[in-house]
Amino acid sequence: MIEVEAVLHVSLDLKVLYFGTPVVLISSRNEDGSANLAPMSSAWWLGQSCMLGLGNRAKTSENLLREGECVLNLVPSGLVGAVDLLAPLTGSNPVPERKAAKGYRYEPDKFGAAGLTPQASEVVGAPRVRECPVQLECRVEGAHAFGENARAFEVRVERAHVEERLVIPGTDYVDPIGWDPLIMKFCEFFGGGTNIHASALASAWRMPHQGMTAAG
Ligand SMILES: Cc1cc2nc3c(=O)[nH]c(=O)nc-3n(C[C@H](O)[C@H](O)[C@H](O)COP(=O)(O)O)c2cc1C
Repeated sequence: MIEVEAVLHVSLDLKVLYFGTPVVLISSRNEDGSANLAPMSSAWWLGQSCMLGLGNRAKTSENLLREGECVLNLVPSGLVGAVDLLAPLTGSNPVPERKAAKGYRYEPDKFGAAGLTPQASEVVGAPRVRECPVQLECRVEGAHAFGENARAFEVRVERAHVEERLVIPGTDYVDPIGWDPLIMKFCEFFGGGTNIHASALASAWRMPHQGMTAAG
């Protein structure tokens, strides 16, 4: 017997397809040797590689193309405040017109602005973020055009650093219970499955749910 589906689906012109991905703070080196740091969440993983979706106007994209390396610092939910402080900032000077219109401003010291600590890397020039329990030093293996204004950067993990308390003792595995990643869903921040912080990005994008908090 064929069951009749009771659930109603509606067809939409969906404006945003950010269904939920971990937030990464990507550190890269500027042309003068200083560090840039940017939140991003269009990242997925396969084997020892990762694909990163980055807008062409990001300073980070420029740095990755020139330097060929970066650090992916995975963000725990407790660092949501630092991520939100970085949200309206860019390392590009002057600020690209479309970003300026969204309220972005130039910040040469992103670590300082977010209250985060640079930690020397071992195989790449860009520093790690000491406060992030998972830090992946990476080399860029390819950059592919993606959509109209972005690139997909293929990076390979050359060295992984994990805070000891998150490692399953005697193994090379992260404890999935201990690791609570900050998740970005439709521009809102989630940790442990609940909405944990108002989002500057959601506000800049004028998302209909902006101002949402843990309290609802
Ligand atoms: C939580 C969060 C996630 C983001 N995800 C991405 C992303 O996946 N790709 C991207 O290009 N920009 C993303 N952004 C926007 C960048 O952080 C923004 O373009 C920033 O200006 C980049 O800094 P930069 O210009 O110094 O590289 C995200 C921002 C936030 C706050």
